[in-house]
Amino acid sequence: MKLIKYLEFVTSADLKTCERYLKEKRIKVNGIITVKPNTVVKELKDQVMLDNEVLEYEEYIYLMMNKRSGYVSATEDNFQVTVFEDIKEFKKRPLRIVGRLDKDTEGLLLITDDGDFIHHLTSPKHNVNKTYFVGFEGVYPENVEELFKEGITLDDGYKCLPASIKRIKNSKCEITIQEGKFHQIKRMCAACGMKVTYLKRLSIGDVKLDESLNSGEYRRLTKEELESLKK
Ligand code: URA
Repeated sequence: MKLIKYLEFVTSADLKTCERYLKEKRIKVNGIITVKPNTVVKELKDQVMLDNEVLEYEEYIYLMMNKRSGYVSATEDNFQVTVFEDIKEFKKRPLRIVGRLDKDTEGLLLITDDGDFIHHLTSPKHNVNKTYFVGFEGVYPENVEELFKEGITLDDGYKCLPASIKRIKNSKCEITIQEGKFHQIKRMCAACGMKVTYLKRLSIGDVKLDESLNSGEYRRLTKEELESLKK
């Protein structure tokens, strides 16, 4: 990879800034000050430093975001604001969303540029549990736990895999599903006479939303979180 591309990739700085680093002789490749943007570097072999600090090459980026309501889970949208408006770095990375949330849903959203990871977590073969906090209107049916366990049939005739529902307070409950069908929680609740008024994803597999993240904030997944999701 050309040095200038490498710098953009690992520092997340824009092209002009990376060119300036080179001009100002702040970049070393294998210990030697290098100013030529076209110098070829081997990603996992050569050591590149900025101001004598090693720039770690990360093959992929893995983020957890606390998605805000009102933002769409898409990489681009001509009319609506997307969750990527909240990510100002990693512009050179082809980041994508791992399992969308509706525009009005909040909470845990995973974002990465690792296609295999996306496939692993979203493939119907893997059935990763997703837990949601749900606010609803309407009556909470007495037998709803059994109905969820048996598998709710949606409006289009699809029978969902077994899921669980647990009441927390009067009009609040927690639901865990294994799939990710379109509007699944809203449609499962509707099938039982409940209207979802608030939805927030709390966890995916063993990874819980970091509650210290404010709406729209994100952080990298820890090594442990990543390992548990890759299992
Ligand atoms: N189920 C829904 O209905 N909406 C979401 O955003 C996620 C799950």
